[in-house]
Amino acid sequence: MDFISKKLLDYCISHSSKESEILKELNRQTHIRTLNPRMICGRHQGRFLSMVSKIIRPKKILEIGTFTGYSTLCLAEGLETQGTIDTIDNNFELKKIQNYFFNLSRLQNQIRQFTCDAIDILPMLKDKYDLIFLDADKRNYLKYLNFIIPLLKKKGVLISDNVLWSGKVVKADDNEDLETQILKKFNQKLSNHKDLETVLLPIRDGISISIKV
Ligand SMILES: C[S@@+](CC[C@H](N)C(=O)[O-])C[C@H]1O[C@@H](n2cnc3c(N)ncnc32)[C@H](O)[C@@H]1O
Repeated sequence: MDFISKKLLDYCISHSSKESEILKELNRQTHIRTLNPRMICGRHQGRFLSMVSKIIRPKKILEIGTFTGYSTLCLAEGLETQGTIDTIDNNFELKKIQNYFFNLSRLQNQIRQFTCDAIDILPMLKDKYDLIFLDADKRNYLKYLNFIIPLLKKKGVLISDNVLWSGKVVKADDNEDLETQILKKFNQKLSNHKDLETVLLPIRDGISISIKV
């Protein structure tokens, strides 16, 4: 969900840099070949992720929720020359499209794919990261946060997606779904955490940027 009018959003997109031809085709193929294409972050958020990554120039990025690899490639645009991105997704059916576009981008040697449940692999990771992008199942966001904070380097940046959950985080609803309950607690925890400084932005479905202090 977007929180600004289509007209304003179109204006923002048309006054931002364009995505590459590879990303444009990946977006198209995602819409043709996957059951839930709206999960892709898309052109505007993709340029935002690329921009943040280019500002940080990370050596190590971690992404939780690869999907077809659109956000992976956007984040990878900012990597240092020898930098790498570790990306996790538990849907093995996505590997074919991911691999096709990772190879096309010539970034494949800098991308490490983990096709497994994030809850299983996160406790095994030994590296520390400059940038972490959290964009997987919302039910586990609080659990992920417990693993992520120790994995972030000091001054490392965490970007968390869908934190406004179509605006449900501010709706009074007695039958609130589990994801909304978790996201409310997650946003509370990010804003109060002693090791994090956070700003929540109404970009697309809500993005939080946190820095480890
Ligand atoms: C919103 S999509 C990610 C979109 C992607 N970051 C992009 O912008 O193109 C969420 C992804 O998380 C994956 N996922 C869901 N639960 C997971 C889990 N427990 N472990 C790993 N991946 C998971 C799904 O298979 C899906 O591809």
